[in-house]
Amino acid sequence: MVAEVLVTGGAGFVGSHTVLVLLQNGFKVVVLDNLVNAVSEGPKPEALVRVEKLAKQSVVFYEADLCDSKALDRIFTSHSFQCVIHFAALKAVGESCQLPLSYYRNNVAGTLGLLEAMKKHKVNRLVFSSSATVYGTPQYLPLDEAHPTGQGCTNPYGRSKFFIEEMLADLCRAEPDWQVISLRYFNPVGAHPSGQIGEDPLGIPNNLMPFVSQVAIGKRKELQVYGDDYETPDGTGVRDYIHIMDLADGHVAALERVLGKDPLKGFVAINLGTGRGNSVLEVVAAFEKASGKTIKYKVVERRAGDVATSYADPKLAKELLSWSAKKDILDMCKDAWNWQMHNPNGFRSSENQK
Ligand code: UD1
Repeated sequence: MVAEVLVTGGAGFVGSHTVLVLLQNGFKVVVLDNLVNAVSEGPKPEALVRVEKLAKQSVVFYEADLCDSKALDRIFTSHSFQCVIHFAALKAVGESCQLPLSYYRNNVAGTLGLLEAMKKHKVNRLVFSSSATVYGTPQYLPLDEAHPTGQGCTNPYGRSKFFIEEMLADLCRAEPDWQVISLRYFNPVGAHPSGQIGEDPLGIPNNLMPFVSQVAIGKRKELQVYGDDYETPDGTGVRDYIHIMDLADGHVAALERVLGKDPLKGFVAINLGTGRGNSVLEVVAAFEKASGKTIKYKVVERRAGDVATSYADPKLAKELLSWSAKKDILDMCKDAWNWQMHNPNGFRSSENQK
């Protein structure tokens, strides 16, 4: 029997790439998205239109908000989901400091509404989109899943992911028939190799790779490197960048595990990272190589809340999901550049609609 999966936030960056890989792996996919962060110039968000073309299959799409319990009830009544993959969330760190209640409403209350609907409709398998941000300032490296969470989270976005994980763990303690895998992503970057789908940030990008990409294409004058006096080999921040297609494969591996004959019990958190770190200047150099462009940059003050170094211990994912990342930083830059070149306005049909 073909498993039917509900994907919340399936029109976003990680969501759309995962939907594509799910379709290619034979899953039936239903997407729910409230479109706060997705371009939609027709009945379906553009990212999903392109996913459907790439997969040569269609996706059922609902424009709905997780806080709308009636809409959720209707969707769960119309389908028989075996599992939910939950991406839908707000994710801008700076904005979360200005609008903490929006973040707690959308992320924490939204997840609560989803869990209540799942319980009511007897769907008790979940793959959750978490983040390495739950580890706060690293107490040791590499970061394994036993590292304390919630201490030193510097912003409401990070805390919302931590609170949700606690909520999921409580639920699994109370109701042992639930199976929840929380995937803690490191730094997802890159795009599908076709250049048809990719990351489409609204306004000025907060994250390194989309900013570098916009400098390369001439949309931004220069990159500001946030500090070169960290205790790292070249003084700039080191992160574990992971290719979005590797990340998408990690979700399929998690889904197969929760649906398989030997499912994991209760709440299990698993890192999705490569286990390798790259500095800001290494990313700049790799992007220059991938694009053939010079990336102008200027070193400025450190950014508040940033840590020197963060990278994963990816062993548990290998052990429990038989998954490990395959692509390196050059692949990530090549695919990010390919997407940027073919879609200078992201998913919008023209610049002035941005
Ligand atoms: C950020 C978020 C994290 C979120 C993740 C999603 C913060 C503090 N953390 O992580 O919660 O889960 O994105 O991928 O925002 N950099 C520059 N110039 C720039 C942008 C970034 O030098 O214009 C540097 C940063 O200082 C850092 C590295 O590049 O050393 C990566 O930054 P970024 O892409 O924003 O990711 P994180 O800070 O790791």
